[in-house]
Amino acid sequence: MNFLTTFAPGRVELLGNHTDYNGGVVLSAALELGITATGRIREDGSIRLSSAGFAGEVQLAPQVEITPNATWADYPLGVIAEFRHAGFPVGGVEIEFSSTLPTGAGLSSSASIEVATAALLMQLFEIPLTRMEVAKLCRRAENTFVGVNCGLLDQVSSIFGKRDHAVFLDCRAETVENVPLPAEACLLITDSGVKHALTGGEYNERREQCFEGARLLGVSQLRDTTMANLLAADLPELPKRRALHVVGENERVFRAIDDLHTGNLPAFGKLMTTSHQSSIENFDNSTAELDALVRIATALPGVYGSRLTGGGFGGATISLVARDQAETLAKTIRETYRLETGHTARTFECAAGEGALSPQ
Ligand code: GLA
Repeated sequence: MNFLTTFAPGRVELLGNHTDYNGGVVLSAALELGITATGRIREDGSIRLSSAGFAGEVQLAPQVEITPNATWADYPLGVIAEFRHAGFPVGGVEIEFSSTLPTGAGLSSSASIEVATAALLMQLFEIPLTRMEVAKLCRRAENTFVGVNCGLLDQVSSIFGKRDHAVFLDCRAETVENVPLPAEACLLITDSGVKHALTGGEYNERREQCFEGARLLGVSQLRDTTMANLLAADLPELPKRRALHVVGENERVFRAIDDLHTGNLPAFGKLMTTSHQSSIENFDNSTAELDALVRIATALPGVYGSRLTGGGFGGATISLVARDQAETLAKTIRETYRLETGHTARTFECAAGEGALSPQ
């Protein structure tokens, strides 16, 4: 059988931090950078996975049970296992991956490799699933096979992205809308170059604290409460701060959508910067380096707003900047950051890209 190729982009979270697993709303964008999967069916029933960027080819003989082996290959293996678990006839296959995503910057290389794998298997084995079903299958692979209890944001963004549009995901309704991004703005991602340890543990801990907040408020998820209710509630300090972040983020996402529709970039940017402040004050998921990047960026004319993006605890910031000044702004941010912190930041000026499973 012939080789087929699929591509799935990474993503950047624009607003709606840690809302996805709380039934909330998120605004994100797919990137033009991502992971390409090239593969074909193997008639001998074996599985062979290799990667241009990561060492270690994985080979599984026919009929061998798929189990995690704590390498990059767990993401595609998890997707193959989930398709089989769901009853789809995914047999022998060989896939080679290559990536244009910077590693370790929090741009969701994990969702990209999962979605690129899923898109390829769907074509090779003629699997009819809706885009939301694929997103959920890939998330299941990550939850059960890799052991990260992430929400739906990363997989949905990689699948539903649209060129020059944001992705608006309502995790409660499981619906997605693409909202146009004004042409005069550009996305500037700045990787702080510092990733703090214990990320997985801290992510799952925040998740539990949010669930505890919902339980104390007597609601099933934090999506089900309002800021007015929350402010009036008598809650211990920690779950209250966690809930303030999530409920505030949901509110900011709804306001941001209105701002995008009216093209009010300064108002949108302000919401991003307020979101970062809430990460610092309420969610404790920022770092000194991310704070420095946001402070440096927001002091510059031409930057509408800036915040950490994704889980936090290190990684990257996203800034909304004037397109015609993006290059100069990126250079100034890198230089000032190096002077202030001694660390080297990488910057990526990005446009919102097309999702992996865009309707043809
Ligand atoms: C990570 C997770 C997402 C989401 C974000 C925070 O990127 O993978 O599901 O929870 O953190 O918003």
